[in-house]
Amino acid sequence: MSQVQPAERKPVILSGIQPSGELCLGNYLGALRRWVELQDDYDCIFMVVDLHAITVRQVPAELRKRCLSFAAQYIACGIDPKRSTIAIQSHVPQHAELTWVLSSLTSMGELGRMTQFKEKSRKAVSTDAAVPDVPAVEGGGASQQANAALFMYPVLMAADILLYQTVGVPVGDDQKQHLELARDLAQRFNHHYSETFVVPEPFIPQVGARIMSLQDPTKKMSKSDDNANNSIALLDPPDAIRRKIRRAVTDSETEIAYHPARPGLANLLTMYAVLEGKPVEQVVQAYSGRSYSDFKSDLAELAISVLEPIQQRYRELMQDRSHLDQVLADGARECRRRAQRTLSKVYRKLGLVEPAR
Ligand code: TYM
Repeated sequence: MSQVQPAERKPVILSGIQPSGELCLGNYLGALRRWVELQDDYDCIFMVVDLHAITVRQVPAELRKRCLSFAAQYIACGIDPKRSTIAIQSHVPQHAELTWVLSSLTSMGELGRMTQFKEKSRKAVSTDAAVPDVPAVEGGGASQQANAALFMYPVLMAADILLYQTVGVPVGDDQKQHLELARDLAQRFNHHYSETFVVPEPFIPQVGARIMSLQDPTKKMSKSDDNANNSIALLDPPDAIRRKIRRAVTDSETEIAYHPARPGLANLLTMYAVLEGKPVEQVVQAYSGRSYSDFKSDLAELAISVLEPIQQRYRELMQDRSHLDQVLADGARECRRRAQRTLSKVYRKLGLVEPAR
């Protein structure tokens, strides 16, 4: 009997978020919001990628809580467990297994060129990405102390994607380079061992793909930023949202206009446009002749009106732990079944002996 479920006949979409820090408006506008829209037309898998998060040292009890909290926030944002599969990455061992296989097709040079690795490893000495209790290599730069998982991170991400024959990966702009590696690895494996993987496409939104920090609009808003004023968390109370937007860095001009040379205002306009579902030009027109402070207070109220119902649903979900556990158990079972199909095929093609049944 065929194991193919009706839902699997739709093309597959997969994406994930690392459970580090607090989910922020950047994650919502660049990724999560799109996930919700894609559920009708695609067979969607959304993961809490906890194995990615351990590339930076985490406090175990906090990581455990955050994984459940992130899954609940996915659902609160509109991911419907009846239509989409929600799973925790470490519940599906095939991700780590395929990573090993794909690492044999990845060069050190390719991984060393990854912007995210370069940025994070440069800071490794001063952050939790350095391996504790290991003496520094003489003459080696900061990156020598970065843990090897940080280096391998993009291969694990490729495994996440390729295990499910994913056609599209909805992500923000910062994941483009990682996606490129996943595509290269799919093509490389297919070329050497015959057609096995679908080559995935990035789904990057035209507007909102890179939401910037509120205090330093030249760098991206990040959920693990040490300064909470840089980002708006999805669970921030209304007063915090008002305060953070009021204090967001803009410029000394008075007229509201979208210009890349005015990155603070451009960022706030982008946020408004995506939250409201309107083109940026329309927002600029609507605020022509009005003050920055009017615009900022309207933006804060708009963000609150989008986030409040999400926060309400989140609180309800967190009170029903058994429901959440069930969703994640179902998701993991479904992912393991589907991932094993791909992994068995991969092992066979590589020439690994199949275990006797
Ligand atoms: P992560 O956890 O850093 O971010 C999760 C998603 O949010 C997007 N994003 C943003 N979009 C717009 N503006 C921002 N300021 C902003 N900050 C983050 C990210 O692009 C991402 O889509 N490596 C991934 C997680 C991952 C993954 C995967 C994604 C692991 N396996 C497989 C897709 C498919 C990451 O660190 O995302």
